[in-house]
Amino acid sequence: MQIALSRTAPADIESDALILLQFEGVPLDHLKPHLQTAYDSGEIAGKAMEMTLVHHPAGFRATRVLLAGAGKGERFATAELRNGIGAAIRHLKSRKIKNAALALDANYSTAEFVAAAVEGAILGDYDPEALKTEKSTLLESFTVGVAAENPGLEEAMERSRIVAEAQNFTREVANEPPNQLTPLALADRARKMAETYGLECEVLDQDRMKQLGMGTLLGVAQGSLAPPALILLRYKPEGETKAAHLGLVGKGVTFDTGGISIKPSENMEKMKFDMAGGAAVLGAMQAIAQLKPPIAITGIVPAVENMPGGRAQRPGDIVKSLSGKTVEVLNTDAEGRLILADALTYAKQIGCTHLVDAATLTGSIVIALGTLNSGVFTNDTAMLDRWMDAARTQGERMWQMPMDEEYKEQLKSVYADLPNIGGRPGGSITAAWFLREFADGTPWVHLDIAGTAWLDDAKPWMAKGATGVPVRSFVHLALNWQD
Ligand code: BES
Ligand code: MN
Ligand code: ZN
Repeated sequence: MQIALSRTAPADIESDALILLQFEGVPLDHLKPHLQTAYDSGEIAGKAMEMTLVHHPAGFRATRVLLAGAGKGERFATAELRNGIGAAIRHLKSRKIKNAALALDANYSTAEFVAAAVEGAILGDYDPEALKTEKSTLLESFTVGVAAENPGLEEAMERSRIVAEAQNFTREVANEPPNQLTPLALADRARKMAETYGLECEVLDQDRMKQLGMGTLLGVAQGSLAPPALILLRYKPEGETKAAHLGLVGKGVTFDTGGISIKPSENMEKMKFDMAGGAAVLGAMQAIAQLKPPIAITGIVPAVENMPGGRAQRPGDIVKSLSGKTVEVLNTDAEGRLILADALTYAKQIGCTHLVDAATLTGSIVIALGTLNSGVFTNDTAMLDRWMDAARTQGERMWQMPMDEEYKEQLKSVYADLPNIGGRPGGSITAAWFLREFADGTPWVHLDIAGTAWLDDAKPWMAKGATGVPVRSFVHLALNWQD
């Protein structure tokens, strides 16, 4: 999609469809005479996501005007614009319109709003149809018209294009079916991306993991015929750099059957998304390679398939992690924390000073927070502040979960240092505590994205399937890092 910035007055913008924001109770001056009956009757009320397509609007050079309902002006911020433009683009796409423009008035002609509009358009344009014979119309161009000069408009446009395309890359990878996206295929996707954007990529294979002693990761992998991979993507800034080395760790279970503690078959197909955290790390690294933040960043994705089989690990097995801690596997379906344990330890061993992991870790977080907020867990308030600031600016909703020491008491094993489950109460919290034992003293934030990484039903602004959470926050955290 071509993205462009324009300083042309709205009436003079040439486009197949010019999007104008229609706020509640504020009829648009230029269109008021033409649309008086629609305004009077309430047909155009300006409610969020309401779309009205007007053909050959008098006084405009555009072929159509799309009045995109924007809700109440006082509640309108970048998140509302991002979603509103996503919805407008999906409305136009479904009508086979390929060129769209947006006219922002002076209030909204800032870098933040321009970025949100571009993100909304690119994210809205995406549909998970790579394997369909017939594809929907893709947008060819999107122009943002601004009505005021503000610093950084061009840069914001380019940055947001890179980030939104990276988020779509994440969605594409996460949407891939599990027969095609095996752990090695995920490693291939990472390698290709790294080659294209100039990152260093290393993939540790099963033998290497054995040598290193990654027993908790290998225990999960051993039930599958598909070999595991530990994917490493390294970004190193040029010139003067910050002291910190950020590790982005993503759960990469390409399919989660539950293993011997097998899941019910209903909805099991959704467990192809169990690598959404890993895919988000790949997407974030793609954007980071292009935007070049002044901090060293390593993306780490333990990729495995969790299968039952003759060699699968059993409930009762005890495995030794890379950290040296032994773990009693009481439920083979609690596999995410097992692979992340070794990945977090490895991240520390290779020098990461700060860690963020993203994982579709527990059904429990979906019970706690639903599908609106990702659960956030931490061992460090300064790191939490960095993260929440990043997420807030990006409109990726996050909610901090408690980490009281007492929850840790649910993780007691008779035979090993730790069990891999802590019972049903506070299941997402005990899962986080398990990870915390491996993050150890390193400042760390854990994101449980089990409820937010995919949509069971499409939103007006986004197709069903993988959402690409938390790519934007990952990238923002890196770009705005202060030592
Ligand atoms: N991948 C699942 C978590 C999940 C569940 C993600 C539903 C998205 C939707 C994870 O590996 C898992 O199976 N967790 C178990 C843990 C339990 C056995 C302690 C769970 O949440 O049920
Ligand atoms: Mn599982
Ligand atoms: Zn899982």
